[in-house]
Amino acid sequence: MNEIVRDRIDVALTVNGEPVEARVPAGQHLIDFLRLELGLTGAHASCEHGVCGACTVRVNGDAVRGCLMLAAQADGAEVWTVEGLTDTGEIADLQEAFVARNALQCGFCTPGMLVAAQELLAREDAPSRAEIREHLSGNYCRCTGYEAIVDAVETVATARAGKGGA
Ligand code: FES
Ligand code: FES
Repeated sequence: MNEIVRDRIDVALTVNGEPVEARVPAGQHLIDFLRLELGLTGAHASCEHGVCGACTVRVNGDAVRGCLMLAAQADGAEVWTVEGLTDTGEIADLQEAFVARNALQCGFCTPGMLVAAQELLAREDAPSRAEIREHLSGNYCRCTGYEAIVDAVETVATARAGKGGA
């Protein structure tokens, strides 16, 4: 067995509800696998040090940093990216609120923000603005000043609560 084969690992996971099988480099990060191998470029690779949150995706129900997880560690996992959450309509109200409240400008941080915000709203019916800020504190935005993002998430939280949750 040569070096290249030894340094690759077979994985089987689901991504956005679809089964995926691949042989991945042992050191490849999940975000690179999603972007480079699967063409899912919604989540971004930015700091690649777990600081900015641009790479946030959902793994087994939790929002995680795609730059801090190896693709090999996702073997058997259920992964959702912003593309999948868009296709299912799960975050449609959040996306509309981000547009309506001017919560995105360049949009670079937005996919990570949406995945993180949805995680919070799935757990908390009526998070306070402080809780929203705290939950999103690991997601950096260069453009918006955050106020509009908190507005958007708060708007959706209120709307969902009014409907008895989503
Ligand atoms: S690219 Fe992963 S946290 Fe910045
Ligand atoms: S909208 Fe530009 S980084 Fe957040």
